[in-house]
Amino acid sequence: MPKITWIGQSAVLVEGNKTKFIIDPYITGNPDIKEGTFTPEGIDVDYILVTHGHWDHLGDTIAIAKRTKATVIAAFELIVYLQRHGIENVHPMHIGGAHRFSDDFWVKLTIAQHGSAVMNDEEGTVYTGNPVGFVVEIDGKTIYHSGDTGLFLDMQLIGELNNIDLAMIPIGDNFTMGVADGAKAVEFLKPKAVMPMHYLAWDLIKQDPNEFIKLVGDKSEVKIIQPGESLTI
Ligand code: NI
Ligand code: MN
Repeated sequence: MPKITWIGQSAVLVEGNKTKFIIDPYITGNPDIKEGTFTPEGIDVDYILVTHGHWDHLGDTIAIAKRTKATVIAAFELIVYLQRHGIENVHPMHIGGAHRFSDDFWVKLTIAQHGSAVMNDEEGTVYTGNPVGFVVEIDGKTIYHSGDTGLFLDMQLIGELNNIDLAMIPIGDNFTMGVADGAKAVEFLKPKAVMPMHYLAWDLIKQDPNEFIKLVGDKSEVKIIQPGESLTI
């Protein structure tokens, strides 16, 4: 029964029986996080999965990877960027590729329709490849974290090839799918349960999750939790 904690925005901590990992560890400056709950120093994981180079996803990857020596899993170009920043434990992958890391932990990269460049004052705009989503098998359960993306028809294929126990998708609109496209994504993915994310951090992406529940209807079980809360699958 993997435990999944929504840290906020698209940051998710997954604790399996043996393996612990975090996806998109945006902690410093994350408006979803209540002060004193999560800090980068408090994260102890085996793997860090990063969907794309935008700062609200790459987040504290470098600091956490340096301190914990967790292996970073991401698309090849983003991994090269991290290596240039002194990250040694890495596992580059790319879209369509899967890898079994251990008996209990398997990862496949999917497409995502979005951007991925790292942009900051020191480096300007650095190309870090395509954004991705992750299909992850942990303790025999299958989760799908789409990263930031618009709706795409290939979600049907992701749903057909994987028996998804929990899908985590953005519904904040403006930069990603909104609630209506998110509900359509659920129709394509056919997950047993779905947890919306990326809809609280700023006014621009604020959405009412009840609207999403209504639109999903009986197509899946919608799990609405608050940042800092957990669920098990
Ligand atoms: Ni983004
Ligand atoms: Mn984002």
